[in-house]
Order: sequence, then C-alpha cells, then structure tokens
Amino acid sequence: MVDASAVLRQGLLQLSKSDQVRSVIEKAPVSRSVVKRFVPGDATADAVRAAGELAATGRLTTIDYLGEDTLDLAQAQATRDAYLALLSALSDAGLTQGGRSEVSVKLSAVGQYLPGDGEKIALEHAREICEAAARAGTTVTLDMEDHTTTDSTLQVLRELRQDFPWVGAVLQAYLHRTEADCRDLAAAGSRVRLCKGAYKEPESVAFQAKEDVDRSYVRCLKVLMAGEGYPMVASHDPRLVEIAGALAAKHGRAADSFEYQMLYGIRPEEQRRIADRGDQMRVYIPYGEEWYGYLMRRMAERPANTMFFLRGLATK
Ligand code: FDA
Repeated sequence: MVDASAVLRQGLLQLSKSDQVRSVIEKAPVSRSVVKRFVPGDATADAVRAAGELAATGRLTTIDYLGEDTLDLAQAQATRDAYLALLSALSDAGLTQGGRSEVSVKLSAVGQYLPGDGEKIALEHAREICEAAARAGTTVTLDMEDHTTTDSTLQVLRELRQDFPWVGAVLQAYLHRTEADCRDLAAAGSRVRLCKGAYKEPESVAFQAKEDVDRSYVRCLKVLMAGEGYPMVASHDPRLVEIAGALAAKHGRAADSFEYQMLYGIRPEEQRRIADRGDQMRVYIPYGEEWYGYLMRRMAERPANTMFFLRGLATK
C-alpha cells in the first residue's frame, strides 16, 4: 500500500532543493506572514526580541542565522559576520550569561561546500564564531546536514573542541552510524543534540520507517543518558520526551545535566510545561531571509504544518 504521508514528505524534501519553486514561494506576497509562526523575522533584532520573550517565560534558546549550501565565499563571510553581530547583540541584551542564549551553525552556510579549501574555510569561520561566543560567555552547537557532510562536520567539531571544549554537535537518529557516533561522543564535557533527522536520505545510510527511526532514537538516548556528556533531547515527540525523562531519572541525572529542545513555534504549550516543571527547555530560533529550505523541511515532517501554510495562502 502507498503511504501518502511518506510520498508527501519525499516530494517536499525534493522541492526544498528546487530553485524554481523557491522563487515562486518566496515571492508570494502572503508567504512572509505565514512563515512568521516558524521564523520570527529577518533581522538580528527580531531574533534577539524572540530570545528575550522566551527567556521571560523561563526558556533557553539557540539561534540559527538561516542559510545553507553556499558556493560563494562572500556569502559565507557575510554569514559569519551575521553571527558575530548576533552574539554581540545577545550579549548587550544580557541574554548570553551561562549559555542561556547560544547559537547554532550550519557549516555549509559558512563555506563547507566551497571548492578546494571548503572545510578549512568553514572551520576558520566557525572558529571566529566560537571566539565571539566565548567573549559573550556562551556556547555554539554545529547543526548536522545531509549524510555526505557528517564526517566533515565531526572532524571540524574535533578541531574546534581542542580550543573550545564546550562546542556541541547534532547527531541524527535516522542514520545507521549514529548509535556508534553517540558512543564516541558520550564522554565528559561533550554536548550532543540528538534529533531524528530532517533530510532525504537513501536506504543505504538511513532507516526509512518511522518506527525504525524512533527505535534508533531510543537506543541513542540510552547511550547518551548513561554517558558522562550533556545530552540535548531535540524532539517534539511526546513518547520520546517521556522516555528521555525516565532515562534521566534512572541514571540519577540532575535537571541541569541535560536539556530538552524544540523548534520555535512548535508545541509552545509543551515547551512552557517542561520549563515550568523545572526542567531545562531550549527553543531553536531560526531567523533571516533564507527561510525556504527550513520551512520545506518543517512541512515535510508533518502534514498539519503543510495545511497551516496552505490555509494561510488561501485565506490571506
Ligand atoms: P516527528 O516529526 O516524527 O513528530 C513526532 C510527534 O511529535 C508527532 O506525532 C506529534 O505527536 C508531535 N509533533 C510534531 N510536530 C508537532 C507539531 N507541529 N504540533 C504538535 N505536535 C507535533 N534535523 C537535522 O537533520 N539536523 C539538525 O541539525 C537539526 N537540528 C534540530 C534542532 C532542534 C532543537 C530540533 C527540535 C530539531 C532539529 N532537527 C534537525 C529536526 C529534526 O531532525 C526533526 O526533523 C524534527 O524535530 C521533527 O522530528 P520530531 O522528533 O519532532 O518528531
């Protein structure tokens, strides 16, 4: 039997790479207002405002300047500069102490795909962002992109951690390799954000069935919670959130030795409930003009998100 939601997911992930569809959607006059549910705005000030509002309700934040897959050095430098300006603005607003607001960085946005020295350039840009984060008293987490970049991203992580041991990374439970990566990274001082994974990946490297991804997520969580690192449980899935809490209790973890994470605009009541009960909840805030790829991945995850977008287009 054909699984309609799986077909929709694959289709949307395919479209997330289409420049033609991107240009139509970006130019639609109503898109921006609909996107606001997931992306608070284009400017640094919009991200700082959103982080301040979330801080006022006890939530931590990690902020992503949107952009990915750049093949243009000037663009990669501009992204680095945007992060430097963001960290300075967050610090001025008093939001960075103790890592309350940190930043998330996609290496492909700071040069990883540039021909020749891409990985080296991305490493240098990430290093400058880490230096600014250190000055502001906060941390940096490296996002994880499609599987062709996993080794390169983990290599950059290793190099950055020599100078900045608090740099974290995302691991994706849908990849077959991730349980082993969790074992490697479950050591003291290591920060790992575990998510399911948002890209279109082949069967040769990734679990395809939702149940298999969920089972892998639990196996990875067990490794991270039993280890000495700092697990960051990035999921909106009520079952996984509950299992994470039970595993943390089983291993006698204090509330400040791990955290839950969700995306801006998704399950906000649950975010508040978790923060209100005394656990740490961090919200991932994307901002900037390059929201197309991000939005398409959110729509691919959940038909309700697609309906929200289409309804917005129809009623505006
Ligand atoms: P999934 O999408 O399978 O949903 C499971 C259940 O959660 C649903 O059945 C429903 O009950 C509930 N739910 C989900 N969305 C809901 C909604 N809108 N409203 C109400 N209930 C909802 N990916 C990646 O590849 N690289 C990365 O670097 C990151 N980074 C990242 C950071 C953070 C902080 C988060 C939270 C996520 C990421 N991701 C990511 C995205 C991640 O891989 C994944 O695609 C999404 O989190 C969706 O997966 P869930 O675990 O939420 O479950």
